[in-house]
Amino acid sequence: MPAKIPSETTPISQQDFLPDGPSVAEALLAHYDRHARILPWRIAPGSDEQPNPYHIWLSEVMLQQTTVAAVAPYFTKFTVRWPTVEELAHADDADVMAAWAGLGYYARARNLIACARAVADGYGGQFPDNEEGLLALPGVGAYTAAAIAAIAFGRRAVVVDANVERVVSRLFAIDAPLPGSRPSIRAATDAITPDERAGDFAQAMMDMGAGICTVKAPQCLLCPLRGECAGHKLGQAEAYPVKPPKKEKPQREGTIWWLERDDGTVWLERRGEKRMLGGMLGFPGTAWDARASAQSGVQGGVQGGEPPAIGAWTAQNRTVEHVFTHFRLILRVERLVVSREQVAPAADGQWWPISRLSDAGLPTLFAKVAQMMTGRA
Ligand code: ADE
Repeated sequence: MPAKIPSETTPISQQDFLPDGPSVAEALLAHYDRHARILPWRIAPGSDEQPNPYHIWLSEVMLQQTTVAAVAPYFTKFTVRWPTVEELAHADDADVMAAWAGLGYYARARNLIACARAVADGYGGQFPDNEEGLLALPGVGAYTAAAIAAIAFGRRAVVVDANVERVVSRLFAIDAPLPGSRPSIRAATDAITPDERAGDFAQAMMDMGAGICTVKAPQCLLCPLRGECAGHKLGQAEAYPVKPPKKEKPQREGTIWWLERDDGTVWLERRGEKRMLGGMLGFPGTAWDARASAQSGVQGGVQGGEPPAIGAWTAQNRTVEHVFTHFRLILRVERLVVSREQVAPAADGQWWPISRLSDAGLPTLFAKVAQMMTGRA
């Protein structure tokens, strides 16, 4: 429906400004043809080259909750080391987890391994070429299936990530707050998604959200969709998407046991699959509770918090802070130095040279602990 000009007797409403689907797609794709970002997994618009489904899948998994700038070096590292999905499928779990270290949301890495093995063993190394088939793969949800179907296989699919959510809620001036507005945002995205070039359209929307229709201070004067955008016409593009009131992140606390040996090594454990940061190497420690105590066995305090060795542990006078999606974590660190003859703790772990902790593939939380204890990055 083209934009209507309000008369003096009719009040102005969103309905008067709703965008026209084909005009949006045409304007956006024309802009993309000239300004598409060059990204390591992307095929430039107009190129004869075919997208590599392995690259598209890998990049989409890495890009979940993570910025393009953070993902780019990891994408290159993975594709140089494991150039095909079969090679990734045959990699050791520990090598993949270590290569993922620092990218966060480690369940993605465990699913990545499972998915590579499913594609290599169950599909002869070829990714399914449609949303339904892709959805059956480990770690592939609705968003990722739609993105791969559109970008790798040219299928018409409705691709909605956080960037698209922002662009569309502005284009349509969707007043309902997130997350309740998601069905309307999806329906609106469906209404503007073209039958042809759905992959380019999805990537163009992502570029729009990343570069022009940004969270703060959207650059409407540069926007090829300005003439279609209800939020802009109402003079309040940045008011969308409407967010629910912000909740304070709860705080959790815990203790890390820095168990050092007098040969310059420290004890690292592989974390159980079911824990947060599961499958990654880390320092032993207590559970992370809402209210924790440095001493195990204190009521209402630490659970699962037996130190890995008996001795006179000394509390360090600094703490490590880390913010996860759902909570803020404060970790105290206790240190004990034992002799080389010390028997290894009864856990899946290893003594690791302190001078080489930066090669251990530690997730960021534990890298911060290592940095605090050694003064090295
Ligand atoms: N974010 C998620 N997927 C993306 C893609 N394919 N290109 C750019 N940003 C993205």
